[in-house]
Amino acid sequence: MKLKTKNLLTLAELTPKEFTGLIDNSIKLKKELKKGGNKLILKNKTLTMIFQKPSTRTRVSFETGMYQLGGHAINLSSHDMQISRGESIEDTAKTLSRYSNCIMARVYEHDLLEDLAKHATIPVINGLSDSFHPCQILADFMTIKEKKKKFQGLKIAWIGDGNNVCNSMIYGAALSGVSMSIATPKGFEPDKIAVKEAQKKTKIELTADPFIAVKNADVVVSDTFSSIHNLDKKRLQKFLPKYQVNDKLMKSAKKDAIFLHCLPAKREQEVTSSVIDGPQSVVWDEAENRLHTQKALLAALIRA
Ligand code: CP
Ligand code: NVA
Repeated sequence: MKLKTKNLLTLAELTPKEFTGLIDNSIKLKKELKKGGNKLILKNKTLTMIFQKPSTRTRVSFETGMYQLGGHAINLSSHDMQISRGESIEDTAKTLSRYSNCIMARVYEHDLLEDLAKHATIPVINGLSDSFHPCQILADFMTIKEKKKKFQGLKIAWIGDGNNVCNSMIYGAALSGVSMSIATPKGFEPDKIAVKEAQKKTKIELTADPFIAVKNADVVVSDTFSSIHNLDKKRLQKFLPKYQVNDKLMKSAKKDAIFLHCLPAKREQEVTSSVIDGPQSVVWDEAENRLHTQKALLAALIRA
């Protein structure tokens, strides 16, 4: 499968057909792996990973994914690179393009990714920025497809902070035709441009009331109230107790609703243990699916 885009920075680069195609390929790769192993379609290819922020899932799933497809991943903390001593993003991008086949970067400012992508001659993947987390959303929609068998007619309720993961989920909703209701405190709404663009393709509702958001929802999603770039403890007062996903809120969604969370989670803050560790939670499948979706993405970008 070929993608029109060279880079994946937000999800907005994909067509609906490419988005659902990537998810179908992820499901195929998962089956192939469980049957005994994947074909080594990225033999001799390398992925350079740059982390400005900590990571568990993104780092391990990308590295394992490259290995399972016959390639190799190099892990770099930005502190260990010459960027930390003032080397420009332009020179870094040009250099890495001469060694590697793809760059995955986790950064604070999204503009840095745009800069990397502009100067790199190889694909650049966003492994999370302050504004977007597209790889997470590929895994989330794969999980939704596995559990619900379709996208058509589904409703997602996002509860809490209209953050980077929420922004990318809005693009995922637009690409799949799923509708979204987003409940946030005033001042914590998602990216206005993402909402406006997505509203041309699907229903995106903004509310301050979590109970309105979960009404008839097939999928309930939460994320931390304090993202890596937003660690101010005073934030919590704006979210608690109203925006916690607990049993009462889950019961107000559809009976067969599933619960998603990108992890890491803070139990008893954005979600209670009874929900995240309960029967409606699919967070471990969701975390696993990072591996399968990123392999489909790497294969599509590197082999294109
Ligand atoms: N969900 C996610 O991106 O997890 P990490 O921060 O552990 O990579
Ligand atoms: N919104 C969270 C997601 C972590 C994977 C953050 O940016 O820290």
